[in-house]
Amino acid sequence: MIRPRRLRSNPAMRRLVAESRVHPAALVLPVFVAEGLAQPRAITSMPGVYQQTLDTLPAVIEQAVSAGLGAVMLFGVPQHKDAIGSGATDPQGILSRAVEVARTAAAGRLVVQADLCLDEFTDHGHCGVLAGDEVDNDATLVRYQQMAVVLARAGADMLGTSGMMDGQVGAVREALDSAGFVSTAILAYAAKYTSALYGPFREAVDSSLQGDRRTYQQDPANGREALRETALDLAQGADVVMVKPAYLDVVRAVAEISDVPVAVYQVSGEYAMLEAAAANGWIDRQAAILESLTGCVRAGADIIVTYWALEAAGWLA
Ligand code: PBG
Repeated sequence: MIRPRRLRSNPAMRRLVAESRVHPAALVLPVFVAEGLAQPRAITSMPGVYQQTLDTLPAVIEQAVSAGLGAVMLFGVPQHKDAIGSGATDPQGILSRAVEVARTAAAGRLVVQADLCLDEFTDHGHCGVLAGDEVDNDATLVRYQQMAVVLARAGADMLGTSGMMDGQVGAVREALDSAGFVSTAILAYAAKYTSALYGPFREAVDSSLQGDRRTYQQDPANGREALRETALDLAQGADVVMVKPAYLDVVRAVAEISDVPVAVYQVSGEYAMLEAAAANGWIDRQAAILESLTGCVRAGADIIVTYWALEAAGWLA
């Protein structure tokens, strides 16, 4: 008889035949760095996640290196915001400073990524500059180009274009190349959806957003559109393409057409939901986290951005 159970009969056999493996080097830890904090501040909706300070950042980098993580992804939380997100292009701004500190601490032992978006820096909370009530796509591209050069100069290895403006990858690539930063890579948020699962993140970055991002982020109803976005980002020079949130059908579809590595962002809402269920004793926390990470790899992700990166890497080691 043909017995598939043979390969499931004991732990050694199951280990040998596992099709998907999560490796610490594939994990990326998002790190929030806040300006004007005396000490790390807990993010209520994300138990175990903190806003760090420039002083505590090196220790986090050291932990990430020891855990064998592939990268950290830095988000800046500025004290002052304005309509054009000036802090995003200030070389002395919190994100630029955080990149410098992280780069020095990492010393080439992991990749330093920085978020390339204006939403943490604008007083209206949108990912770009406004013209009336609308986000002005092309005026925003100019701001992204300036931000890219500032972050590359600060030492970022990879920039995460998360704003969902049309043409952002090409515009950023051109700005980086003309400024001589030909080696700074672009992690393109190729398929980024409007999602209710970003709620806790908004607390993490003290977001001032009123309304929503439906005119620039994708509608969760659409799968084919993700392939169009991915093809555009690849054509414009994306070095890595990312799907966010972890919609696994979309990850699979993108993995099938991409000739560059595919990343997935396991977002704040997924973190919060699972932590809340675990805190109530309703779910086996460690098993659920590992199952979720394994699902991302099974779907075709090479890289996973996850708030559990440090802890998961410890379990996997
Ligand atoms: C935008 C950005 C967001 C997230 C990452 N980058 C928020 C948004 O698009 O509204 C969300 C990440 C998460 O929920 O974990 N810079």
